[in-house]
Amino acid sequence: MSERPILVTGATGKLGRLVVERLVAFGQPVRVFTRRPEAAGALFGKTVQIAAGDFGDRTSLETAVRGVARLLLLSPISARLVTDQVAAADAAVAANVARIVKISGSDWTIEPAGNSISGDAHAAVERHLGSLPIEAVSLRPNAWMQVSLANIIRQVVTSDQVVAANLDAGIGYIGARDIADVAVQQLLADRLDGRTLNLTGPDIVSFRQIASLMAAALKRSVAALEEPPQIVPQDGDFEHRAVAQFVRLIAAGRAATTTDVVRTLLARSPRTVAAFILEQVAPAAAVPEYQP
Ligand SMILES: NC(=O)c1ccc[n+]([C@@H]2O[C@H](COP(=O)([O-])OP(=O)(O)OC[C@H]3O[C@@H](n4cnc5c(N)ncnc54)[C@H](OP(=O)(O)O)[C@@H]3O)[C@@H](O)[C@H]2O)c1
Repeated sequence: MSERPILVTGATGKLGRLVVERLVAFGQPVRVFTRRPEAAGALFGKTVQIAAGDFGDRTSLETAVRGVARLLLLSPISARLVTDQVAAADAAVAANVARIVKISGSDWTIEPAGNSISGDAHAAVERHLGSLPIEAVSLRPNAWMQVSLANIIRQVVTSDQVVAANLDAGIGYIGARDIADVAVQQLLADRLDGRTLNLTGPDIVSFRQIASLMAAALKRSVAALEEPPQIVPQDGDFEHRAVAQFVRLIAAGRAATTTDVVRTLLARSPRTVAAFILEQVAPAAAVPEYQP
């Protein structure tokens, strides 16, 4: 633990807020970088320092990294991802920040190159980090339960059906709490455990199995239907194109991977899809917008 703050970018988002909460609970001083200081204030109260700024505003980045010990680097999927993350990393190096922990893309979006505009963008940032005189690790989480799985759960709650391009394609879903726990461990540890860490949940679950788990949780029948994936829109915005590519890669079975990295680093099992579904569905058979 350092007396100097850890800077968290993307702190008001789905994963970043979990990282901030954990660091604060450890008594670690935290500074959050945000375009919305009032939203950060509402989320974290006086437990963190707030650095108002925008990745596109170099001065605000330089101010935010001043005096910082380590950096958690997260930004959303966008055409600006490389520019924004490179700017933040360069500002961190200039300010003598000791370590960067980057939230990267899923391993299957990054390797092999050329299949995912999002994965290729994350890979470009990873290469840049590797060229800098700074300690850095890139966490490559598989698909998050709180995003794509939560969308399927919502779909089932309202329509009693799971629709996918390939019902037998599996995904090694990971829970955001487990990603946050690993990120905090890599931020606070004396030494890093590698340059890239491929994080997954404990098991591979297919869309057909999700339908069965949902049927058991809701105590009613759930249909499983195959529908061809959307055409990847060539003229769509970056995020839509990236998501359409994810759907195709998942249908091709690329996300059906698990590793022991979370279990090894945290000395406990990562959350299972079955446990996540029960937690989400049990309270009211209705799924709120975001539950970590
Ligand atoms: N979902 C998955 O399955 C999955 C899998 C692997 C990797 N990932 C990676 O996870 C990342 C997304 O994480 P998330 O879902 O937690 O993000 P999110 O909820 O979409 O939040 C985005 C965050 O970025 C901040 N932000 C956006 N534009 C900014 C700007 N111009 N300047 C400063 N801050 C800015 C926002 O802060 P303010 O609005 O407060 O400024 C917000 O805190 C992506 O890099 C994605 O590739 C996701």
